[in-house]
Amino acid sequence: MKASEFTKQSTVEKNKTEEIIQRTLKISPERFFIEKENLIFSNSKLRRVQKNIDRYKSGEPIEYIFFQASFNGNIFFINKNVLIPRPETELILQKTFKIIGKKKNLKILEIGTGSGALIISLAKRAPYQNYFATDISKKALKIAQKNSLRHNTKINFIVSNLLESVNILPDIIIANLPYLNKSEARNLADPKRALVSPGYPTYLIEKLLMQISKMNRSIYIILEIGYNQQNLKKYCKKLFPKSQISIMKDPSGYNRVLAVTN
Ligand SMILES: C[S@@+](CC[C@H](N)C(=O)[O-])C[C@H]1O[C@@H](n2cnc3c(N)ncnc32)[C@H](O)[C@@H]1O
Repeated sequence: MKASEFTKQSTVEKNKTEEIIQRTLKISPERFFIEKENLIFSNSKLRRVQKNIDRYKSGEPIEYIFFQASFNGNIFFINKNVLIPRPETELILQKTFKIIGKKKNLKILEIGTGSGALIISLAKRAPYQNYFATDISKKALKIAQKNSLRHNTKINFIVSNLLESVNILPDIIIANLPYLNKSEARNLADPKRALVSPGYPTYLIEKLLMQISKMNRSIYIILEIGYNQQNLKKYCKKLFPKSQISIMKDPSGYNRVLAVTN
């Protein structure tokens, strides 16, 4: 069957069908564009493409089908043990770059690194710092390590439940911890442990803030939060009365990042 005929008959949008063909058969978009009218699939190729189309149609994100996600212009290996990095998390990057400014040798710690997309993107653009990243999931940390190697970054990975096994004194802590409730996460394909906080949605964030406050040290904190979790500002005010506390909105106008600065 011709690729163009297959695309016409597909029950999935044209651009997605074409993307799945290209990625399944490892054809570059440029080559596909030139050859698509004459490209003929053998039965086995047809079956492979159709299988991925069916997975996509049944709701599996394209990132999990092809084990790849893009974040901040970089490509990361992912699988179902880690969250697909979301573009709104780039707000943490922007805020962290501002805080870093021209400083060097800062200790920057990410809690709950997942695929490592966030800390690796930071380390690539601001290499003269010391990077540390944790996750409670060993499987997630394996993926993050693999991505760090691929992107040639130097990051110390630590298996830890929040700050429990961390024994460095960081200057900056960043995190995109789980902050959804079960019903908000129901239709998402990412691992539940990456999405849903035990207890109530802001439980893990509050626990982390509490642990940081006990370090008795001036630390910049930049955390992703849910759009309706502005109450965390008050919680922070109690823990860090002398700090400046702000909430940044994402490009869609939703509350997204909580920052505690000195
Ligand atoms: C929302 S995902 C964020 C992943 C990645 N930082 C990103 O933004 O794409 C949350 C991550 O936190 C990890 N996590 C959940 N509970 C944790 C805990 N108690 N301590 C450390 N990490 C935890 C999960 O395994 C998951 O990788």
